[in-house]
Amino acid sequence: MRKLFTTLAIVAAGLLLIGMGAYIYMRTAMQGFSARAEPSRIEAVLAAYARDTAMPSSAKTLKNPIRLSLDVQHEAMAHFADHCAVCHANNGSGQTMFGKGMYPKPPDLRQSRTQNRTDGEIFSIIENGIRMSGMPAFGGADTADDSWKLVHFIRHLPQLTPAEETQMEVLNPKTPEELQEEKDEEQFLNGGDSSAKTATRRNMKGHSR
Ligand code: HEC
Repeated sequence: MRKLFTTLAIVAAGLLLIGMGAYIYMRTAMQGFSARAEPSRIEAVLAAYARDTAMPSSAKTLKNPIRLSLDVQHEAMAHFADHCAVCHANNGSGQTMFGKGMYPKPPDLRQSRTQNRTDGEIFSIIENGIRMSGMPAFGGADTADDSWKLVHFIRHLPQLTPAEETQMEVLNPKTPEELQEEKDEEQFLNGGDSSAKTATRRNMKGHSR
């Protein structure tokens, strides 16, 4: 009797798996694998699970060795504007042209999903990236300090002021056309001083890919 139950349970589990497989296959076949479509709930849950499992558990407890200062905050802000804002936006909302067309999308870094992570987790994500997502790995030979500074800046994002956001816009990467336009404007305005901006850009080191 017991054996019969076990057999029935195995058969039922098998049928369930086949059913789920067929369901996922049908949905994928109907929608294709476009990053434009909103993913199904199953896909989103599996992707989040895979992402969190990929995080080494030792990463969680790492402490930020860089002391927060105005200089550190400013450097990290410039760095974020230059390397991260294309996808994450200056204010961390993720509302950018690139961000909107990706799946998984860059999450709003000001919200609890990110802010509840430990410093070590955020550091590890910046250094190692997130596999099978648009989040690149920025780690290299001596990038640790830069990445820890970015952790400070990500903690600051929920309190970012409009003035800081405007400061960041100046530091966002520009196309050659945009640079030329700016130059023309400056010349037109009879030589506005642009040396401060150039100096900040030059001071940024690391992550220079
Ligand atoms: C090409 C686009 C792109 C760039 C550039 C980029 N990111 Fe991301 N980032 C993403 C995407 C997409 C995700 C979400 C991945 C996921 O959910 O699996 C992400 C996730 C993250 C997360 C995890 C958020 C969370 O709570 O899960 C952090 C932290 C982060 N990025 C920081 C940065 C920093 C700092 C930089 C710059 C040094 C950067 N990113 C540059 C696309 C990008």
